[in-house]
Amino acid sequence: MPEKNLLGIEGLSAEDIYKYLDLADNFLGVLERPIPIVPALRGKTILTLFFEPSTRTQISFSIAAKRLSADVVNFSISSSSVIKGETLLDTAKNIEAMKVDGVIIRHSVPGAAKVLADQLDAFVINAGDGGHEHPTQALLDLMTIRQRFGKFKGLKVLIVGDIAHSRVARSNIFGLKTLGAEVGICGPPTLLPLEIEKFSVQVFYDLDEAIKRFDVIMALRIQLERQESGLFPSIREYRNLYGLTKQRIKQMKPNAVIMHPGPTNRGIEIDPEVADGNKSLILRQVKNGVALRMAVLFIHAGGKIE
Ligand code: CP
Repeated sequence: MPEKNLLGIEGLSAEDIYKYLDLADNFLGVLERPIPIVPALRGKTILTLFFEPSTRTQISFSIAAKRLSADVVNFSISSSSVIKGETLLDTAKNIEAMKVDGVIIRHSVPGAAKVLADQLDAFVINAGDGGHEHPTQALLDLMTIRQRFGKFKGLKVLIVGDIAHSRVARSNIFGLKTLGAEVGICGPPTLLPLEIEKFSVQVFYDLDEAIKRFDVIMALRIQLERQESGLFPSIREYRNLYGLTKQRIKQMKPNAVIMHPGPTNRGIEIDPEVADGNKSLILRQVKNGVALRMAVLFIHAGGKIE
């Protein structure tokens, strides 16, 4: 990899992306073994530094690091000196003085991962920075799509919901377009990005029109605080117009699939029967997340196959 850090998908080449995906496919095999551990990162120390809540990303990075025999330290804000006012950089520099090799950071401010990367000798992986990027989520989504369809060229992927505030949408749009997929976005005009033409994607406001045309329907979590800001009128109306309901998904192509990065608002952007149904790849995404994050750690920590 040309870069020490993984801060976003924007700017990665198709070759870079395939390196992560191919290695992740190999690590899936390791995870199927009776003892799913390899000594690739023995002696390395990885810190997960999460300033926002997370279930999937923090846990899967921790498991991934342990499967590679690294030591893992999970940083919890509630028991740290951040609550006494210590800054992000002071926190990170103090941690680095304790000799960590890599930092996985999630922060509410776009660019926080880059600020850290510019200051530290340790490699930095962006685990979500505000509405900017969430590169490992996009990579595990790409891995899951390739597993199902075997290709990206000509594949049609529709992202539904709050695109304007979604780091997952941004990272996926960059990745999917780099690999040759056709990308559509669908949502209320107030939740689509202002300069939408810069993304070169098809734009839909009517989900019933769009849902018939795509191979992958990727729903995003609706952030309930957006309603308080007046960006959509009511949860019920959002569900009626943009929810993946049992009724609406009957219009999908026979082989089309449903994805969601999680956490899901069941009964709002996705019905429980749809999330748990046979078109859903949601738990496959979570499973692939461990292998994908093993690949990311292996590459950026300079892993060795013994
Ligand atoms: N998809 C995702 O980032 O989930 P978490 O917030 O649980 O990590």
